[in-house]
Amino acid sequence: MRVFILGGTGSIGTAVTAELCRRSHEVTALSRSGVADDKLRRLGADPSRGDLRAPAGWAAEAVGHDAIIHAAATFSDDMGGVDTQVVSALIGAAKQTRHKPRLIYTGGCWLYGETGDAVATEDSRFNPIPAFSWMVGNAARFLATPEFSAAILHPAMVYHADGGVFDRFIEPARECRPMEIWGDRQTRWPLIHRSDLARAYCGLLERPDLAGHFNVVSEEGVRAGDIMDAIARAFDNTLTPVTLSANDLVSRHGAWAIGPTLDQQMSAAKLRSETGWTPEITDYRRSDLFDELRQRQV
Ligand SMILES: NC(=O)c1ccc[n+]([C@@H]2O[C@H](COP(=O)([O-])OP(=O)(O)OC[C@H]3O[C@@H](n4cnc5c(N)ncnc54)[C@H](OP(=O)(O)O)[C@@H]3O)[C@@H](O)[C@H]2O)c1
Repeated sequence: MRVFILGGTGSIGTAVTAELCRRSHEVTALSRSGVADDKLRRLGADPSRGDLRAPAGWAAEAVGHDAIIHAAATFSDDMGGVDTQVVSALIGAAKQTRHKPRLIYTGGCWLYGETGDAVATEDSRFNPIPAFSWMVGNAARFLATPEFSAAILHPAMVYHADGGVFDRFIEPARECRPMEIWGDRQTRWPLIHRSDLARAYCGLLERPDLAGHFNVVSEEGVRAGDIMDAIARAFDNTLTPVTLSANDLVSRHGAWAIGPTLDQQMSAAKLRSETGWTPEITDYRRSDLFDELRQRQV
């Protein structure tokens, strides 16, 4: 397929772009810099210059492809407004085309809010953290647009060999500082390695008959305190961790920082049964990230 990806240089998008190319899809990726151009070419994609903040410049090009993957976000205070403009531009452009592009939009586990002992499925009610509440409406707009064959993928918290969501533990551990507990040690995080996530994007992309919401997760809920301990051991960091409240986190990092304090579990049973996807990495301690951490101890 000819695929246009937004966010092809990001934490998620890098792996998705590489997996698309590995599957011999022809990939064009939105790029806003020479650095991004180079990274995308190394992954096997063709960069196309454009900015999320100016979607009129590239929306028609995007919908001219067989499929679009949207895995970009500005993570600025106005990210919801920027995304809403992107969604409007893509829907407007799709109404001018004769074909029906496949579209995968990225949501996320934080749209389900705190689940506690319940496990979020696609039938669960959305209860998004305020910083990402706009995503629910934007996802609904794509699903309601008949000019697209749309599906929404909700990734769990994403880690990879360079860290990803584990960065907040790795950085202080590496720098011999006390590690930070965000909220509570008992908080559960749904996890996914980005290589498994990339296979989920591609599998769903290649099934345009499948519409609606799909969660993607390989470990339904892992205690944040256990992850922190595993990383502390890898760095021989024996300092007493500091606990940060949700208020501390929001004032320090912004409204999105409520996300990691949510006690969540999430299931990918629907994705597994409808696409046949299964994760290859089902224990974060047996991933390439922990291989790297072990190697640095040798
Ligand atoms: N990471 C997770 O754990 C996770 C979990 C669930 C859902 N999500 C969602 O997945 C999406 C992607 O997350 P991520 O972690 O992959 O983000 P990320 O690593 O920060 O990547 C963001 C991507 O968006 C691009 N971008 C940012 N501003 C842009 C602009 N003005 N114009 C063009 N491109 C722009 C970046 O390009 P540059 O290279 O040019 O900066 C990059 O490719 C987000 O919506 C996020 O909420 C993430």
